[in-house]
Amino acid sequence: MPDSKTSICCIGAGYVGGPTMAMIANKCPDIEVHVVDINQTRIDAWNSDVLPIYEPGLQEIVAEARGRNLKFSTNVDQAIRESNMIFISVNTPTKTFGVGAGRAANLEYIEKCARQIASASEGHKIVVEKSTLPVRTAEAVKRILSTSSRNGATFDVLSNPEFLAEGTAIEDLLEPDRVLIGGESSQAIQKLVDVYARWVDRKRILTTNLWSSELSKLTANAFLAQRVSSINAISALCEVTGADVDEVAAAIGTDSRIGPKFLKASVGFGGSCFQKDILNLVYLCEHFGLNDVAAYWEQVVKMNDHQKSRFSRNIVKTMFNTVSGKRIAIWGFAFKKDTNDTRESAAIHVCRDLLREQAVINIFDPKVSDEQIRNDLRDVMINGSGELSATDRKLIEKNVHVASSKQSAASGAHAIAVLTEWDEFKTADFETIYDSMQKPAFLFDGRNILDHKKLAGLGFDVHAIGKRIEASIQA
Ligand code: UDX
Ligand code: UDX
Repeated sequence: MPDSKTSICCIGAGYVGGPTMAMIANKCPDIEVHVVDINQTRIDAWNSDVLPIYEPGLQEIVAEARGRNLKFSTNVDQAIRESNMIFISVNTPTKTFGVGAGRAANLEYIEKCARQIASASEGHKIVVEKSTLPVRTAEAVKRILSTSSRNGATFDVLSNPEFLAEGTAIEDLLEPDRVLIGGESSQAIQKLVDVYARWVDRKRILTTNLWSSELSKLTANAFLAQRVSSINAISALCEVTGADVDEVAAAIGTDSRIGPKFLKASVGFGGSCFQKDILNLVYLCEHFGLNDVAAYWEQVVKMNDHQKSRFSRNIVKTMFNTVSGKRIAIWGFAFKKDTNDTRESAAIHVCRDLLREQAVINIFDPKVSDEQIRNDLRDVMINGSGELSATDRKLIEKNVHVASSKQSAASGAHAIAVLTEWDEFKTADFETIYDSMQKPAFLFDGRNILDHKKLAGLGFDVHAIGKRIEASIQA
């Protein structure tokens, strides 16, 4: 029987901490779950009707538990004091300065949390690493906890990486392939097992040592990203040979050893995890002198960069080698459908490339705000140089338009580029859209979600990833 006295605090109300804690609170009504964050605006949003992140099904889960046993606040110390299980779910971005810049994970927020937990705690606490961390981080966390504790508090540290994917977070949390818990104390492990076992089949809850758990998360993301880069590498070969990447993916996916998932060729993977985690893995390998292993994994990221720039180069080449002053509709800015998250989205890179070619871009995304789009473009244009050049500032001010619908983005445009696989793009009224565009009307499907044959029949000059749309079927 689970210990009814378990009370949980989670530091970090982000894409991972928020939904995960909402699910725990929803499934365990007797466990108090207090989610804290230093960002007051974010907390206010969690306490309002417009949550800070868009995730199908999340609103309902939060609505049921909030005010009962789910609480959001900025009272970090109080939440730590009142809980006996503390999740750390703060962000761990790639370091942008000093040793390991551009590769290593920036662990300053993790360290800050560990110090705050140490100083605010009394009695015994189980500290759970939820953030994705380099292998052996728990060692540092344990050391900080044991040396900085003021009130004689004692700690167990567990690693419990989260495998949810954005856009399907609620499904993934409800029915995870597995829950992974690494730790040294079997008692502490059992306490966390008891929480998940309320709704997850016990056979799916795996327990390991700390280091295996930490490393499994990096490894899982590296393998997933590697599959996308592998199929994207093949897409380039398809385009020059006449093979069709979707047919190749379907053919190889029937091999039960390969499996059909994660073989969708695209403009490139994005999201806050894949690139960051692979670079982190690369850094770790180099740190341990495993240079060939590091080079092997780094190639996955290089291939992804290649795919993104190949896509923008192809647009320019196809449109008679110039897009200067031409209007290009960008359909989708989020890194995948069903999320408002744009972190590392391929769209950011493609838009930057097109802007630098002086194109005028009309961006439409059903969930991403105008402000977010402009911030992302500003950041990618600055890219470490510290300041936005006058030319780039002018490009963002004058050449970037954020549209309120896919139709208005395409109206008067020379081309449409589909960069996120939102369902609404598949059902667009392409006949009307074609009529509203400049001719020839180019269409670049960076997600291979549209009916290319039909669109070519309507008169579009269609280009997709890893396939040739034969000229003979174009009007
Ligand atoms: C998570 C994981 O934690 C990260 O390691 C993993 O690789 C990706 O998923 P995520 O939830 O997506 O990160 O991050 P984010 O949405 O940025 O949320 C982190 C939150 O932590 C932010 O709201 C931030 O304000 C908060 N935070 C950060 C704190 O409350 N305290 C800090 O010291 C730092
Ligand atoms: C990923 C992992 O899937 C998840 O387990 C981990 O916890 C966090 O990182 P996420 O980044 O949210 O999740 O989304 P995911 O569905 O993995 O997609 C990542 C990127 O790969 C997206 O840009 C997506 O469009 C792209 N992708 C995915 C492809 O281009 N092709 C595919 O076949 C699959």
